[in-house]
Amino acid sequence: MGSAELNDFVKRVSERTDVYSVVSAYVPLTQKSGRYWGRCPFHNEKTASFSVSADKGLFYCFGCGAGGNIFKFLSLIENISYFEAVKLQARRLGIDLPEKKYSPEEERRRREEKILYRINELAQDFYYEYLTKTARGEIGRKYLAGRGITAETIENFKLGYAPDEWENLLTKFTRQDFSPQQLEAVGLVAKRKNSSGYYDRFRGRVMIPIIDVFGHVVGFGGRVLNSEDENSPKYLNTPETVLFNKRNLLFGLDKSNRAISAAGAAIVVEGYMDAISLFSAGVKNVVATLGTAFTPEHAKLIQRYARKIIFCYDNDDAGQRATIRALPIVQQAGAEVYVVKISDGKDPDEFIRKHGKEKFEELIKSAQTLIDYRIKYVLANTEHATTGGKFRALQEILPVVVNIENDILCAEYCKRISAALVLDEQLVAKAWKKFLKQMQETAHQPGKKFIAVKRQKIFERTDPIIRASCEVVLRMVWHENDMIDYVLTVLPTEIFSEPQREILFWLKNYEEQGRRANQMNAAEELSDEANAQLSRILMDGSDEPLDTEIKLFNDSVNILRRDVLLKKYHRILAQSEGYKSGDQEIYNKSIQELIKVKKEIDNLKGN
Ligand code: CTP
Ligand code: MN
Repeated sequence: MGSAELNDFVKRVSERTDVYSVVSAYVPLTQKSGRYWGRCPFHNEKTASFSVSADKGLFYCFGCGAGGNIFKFLSLIENISYFEAVKLQARRLGIDLPEKKYSPEEERRRREEKILYRINELAQDFYYEYLTKTARGEIGRKYLAGRGITAETIENFKLGYAPDEWENLLTKFTRQDFSPQQLEAVGLVAKRKNSSGYYDRFRGRVMIPIIDVFGHVVGFGGRVLNSEDENSPKYLNTPETVLFNKRNLLFGLDKSNRAISAAGAAIVVEGYMDAISLFSAGVKNVVATLGTAFTPEHAKLIQRYARKIIFCYDNDDAGQRATIRALPIVQQAGAEVYVVKISDGKDPDEFIRKHGKEKFEELIKSAQTLIDYRIKYVLANTEHATTGGKFRALQEILPVVVNIENDILCAEYCKRISAALVLDEQLVAKAWKKFLKQMQETAHQPGKKFIAVKRQKIFERTDPIIRASCEVVLRMVWHENDMIDYVLTVLPTEIFSEPQREILFWLKNYEEQGRRANQMNAAEELSDEANAQLSRILMDGSDEPLDTEIKLFNDSVNILRRDVLLKKYHRILAQSEGYKSGDQEIYNKSIQELIKVKKEIDNLKGN
């Protein structure tokens, strides 16, 4: 699709989109002073600072600084790219996608990718048939039956069994015109080490297909039948391939996403078998990581469907340590985090088979908040009888409480921590404040992207009048592109914030090319911060008659110029003080300069 065609498509989708109904499907909104308000879905908050202007088609959060147009909103909340958001909305509205034209190279790559997906799908069928329909699959059927896995569950998860042979799949699939290289690319076969040729990676294992949210089979986990066998690992997984990336995948999400949305929460377990077991017992809002640590990508993936994440890891040291490691990641992603500790049994699978669905649901209901869990964990795992021990324990607890914004909760936790550690409340409060300060300071280091940084950037211009003036100037330039040269002549660009400068130069570029920038270009070409800033500026735009807008603009330019000149004045004044007792000629010059600047300031006043 050409770029004109693309623009036209985006425009059509945008024109038919009702911003209010799109946003309110995710965030409950109430109307107040011509705008809609709700609790921001992009950060944790108690009060509504997220605002939507339906007629302008923009959103902006005064809490965390997220903002942009409706497609930006969709891309953030669905965790998809900007263009995917446009397509998603088009699908919802029933607008057909224009045919896309690919370069020959892209075309080839897409064809190849399709073949790889197809191979995985056929492999899933192959293992499934082998398990369910062959005599040699009997051993796999017995194993699964022994674990209480029903035929229905086997069918539902398309579980399978890999023949205990070296070239069964290889021979079968190469006969179907797939090359060994293609089979290797999806990890089903591997190259022989000491001779030429390939061999089946999965042999004599129960096969668990791993499916992405689009329903593609992307990889497999293969479990040995005999766990006692020391020579082969309990699980063998597809290695990293073009289709299979563990960081971005959660086992079961293809089946559980609806239940997760409905419950408003996802239960995260460690093992394939835990997920399968819970799901077939009727606890359907469950996903499992693939034997890797929980990543921010996982958190994002879940948050497409629910805010709450409930960790239910194995009841051993490794499981508990993995929980502790996962917590800051989900907390930072803005999720509401809970932890369940299995009271009886080593993992969720064992628990639910022993006690049933109701008891498991009770367990979930009794989930502790992240903070309580952390406090208990630290108390159980550190020595805190001595003074030194108390402070070390405190340092372990503080990272999870320090983000609480609610004052009452803060006080409550301060009490609880001091009681638990037998420490003076004042001392805890002091350490808390110090920790918060340290965290905010490290947040300024590049690379550490806390919300606090964003907030800082947006509000770094401390003088609200100056900030508002910059916004007025930018708003005018947005509407009247040919003002840009004037603005750049009378105002030094340093007075604008970084994202504002980005907008200015971006607009200048458009202006030079004789093109007009719009919201769509902005959303695609500007950084997230600049986009958010632009939304904020445009949302505040009044619909007053043009001459008041122009007056406001002129006043703002004057305020800014005055600010610039005043700073200059004080700089020269300070310098001239230094010259007073030295070279009289330089001193006189600086005084003259001062008078000049002073005159300029006076002239501005007369305006
Ligand atoms: N895992 C792995 N390789 C291993 C062991 C474990 O990839 N050698 C991953 C698997 O994704 C597994 C998860 O880590 O599901 C958790 O391990 P474990 O609790 O041992 O697995 P379960 O699914 O509970 O398996 P089972 O009940 O069959 O013991
Ligand atoms: Mn387990």
